Amino acid sequence: MTVPHMTVLVVGATGSIGRLVVEETIRQGHSVRALVRTPGKTRQLPSEAQVAIGDVTQPETLAGAVDGIDAVVFTLGSDGGGKVAAENVDYGGVRNVLSALGSRKVRIALMTAIGVTNRTGKYNQTTEAHDWKRRSERLVRASGLPYTIVRPGWFDYNRSDQHRLVLLQGDTRQAGDSSDGVIARRQIAEVLVSSLSSDQALRKTFELVATTGPAQKDLDAVFAPLDADPQGSLDGVRDMANMPLQDEPERVRAALDAMLAAGRLR
Ligand SMILES: NC(=O)c1ccc[n+]([C@@H]2O[C@H](COP(=O)([O-])OP(=O)(O)OC[C@H]3O[C@@H](n4cnc5c(N)ncnc54)[C@H](OP(=O)(O)O)[C@@H]3O)[C@@H](O)[C@H]2O)c1
Repeated sequence: MTVPHMTVLVVGATGSIGRLVVEETIRQGHSVRALVRTPGKTRQLPSEAQVAIGDVTQPETLAGAVDGIDAVVFTLGSDGGGKVAAENVDYGGVRNVLSALGSRKVRIALMTAIGVTNRTGKYNQTTEAHDWKRRSERLVRASGLPYTIVRPGWFDYNRSDQHRLVLLQGDTRQAGDSSDGVIARRQIAEVLVSSLSSDQALRKTFELVATTGPAQKDLDAVFAPLDADPQGSLDGVRDMANMPLQDEPERVRAALDAMLAAGRLR
């Protein structure tokens, strides 16, 4: 199958996953634009990458980054920044980039995390990172844009013979350690970029882990058996209903309303 050429914006391009997404985008024959907030980090990127200097917490810096793009891959992370950074970067960054898109109809791939619906564990209680990432998922679903949401297991905890992809739904693995599942960083990048051109990945949310065996070659066939998120739903298919909208902060509900309104206009 011939995949149409795209210009793909990578948000989080200098991170441990984002760097691999930049490489994978080029490998799959697309043009890539890397959003970089620290100009000195541009040196880490391949020479083929276009660079857009911008900070997701400063919406006015994002207009150039989204100009002329066909797709966005989000691999943002605010690890170590606590609750404020989780809101401003993991969630606010997605909100600001989606807003900067205006009426552009682009394909989205969003990386969050396995266990993202677990609200009561120590990690989320301390950082609120799950809650803010889950709210970023909700914004993507509300945006009216074609999307895929990938919730990876533990990065590079796989053994060297664990490359057979397993895609799960309902986010039921919530131990909060690598027993929830493992996955190579490079395979996360491959799945994110491949999802952009796959009809089989449309409107799908899944946890991504790997088990013993070789990697599958045909990712369409891996995406195909999954259930799409219900049309109009804010949550992933079969997710636990433990984040009622009426209990959400007012600013979160207002942002969702704005995204739903923008989605209707697209
Ligand atoms: N480790 C695991 O096993 C695991 C499993 C599942 C999910 N996750 C999730 O994956 C994420 C980590 O991914 P990673 O390892 O790729 O993260 P990372 O290496 O920390 O990269 C984070 C990226 O986000 C960018 N960024 C942060 N704030 C920004 C801002 N204000 N404007 C623009 N860019 C900004 C960083 O830019 P700079 O380079 O300038 O800082 C960097 O490119 C975490 O959020 C974690 O919860 C981790």
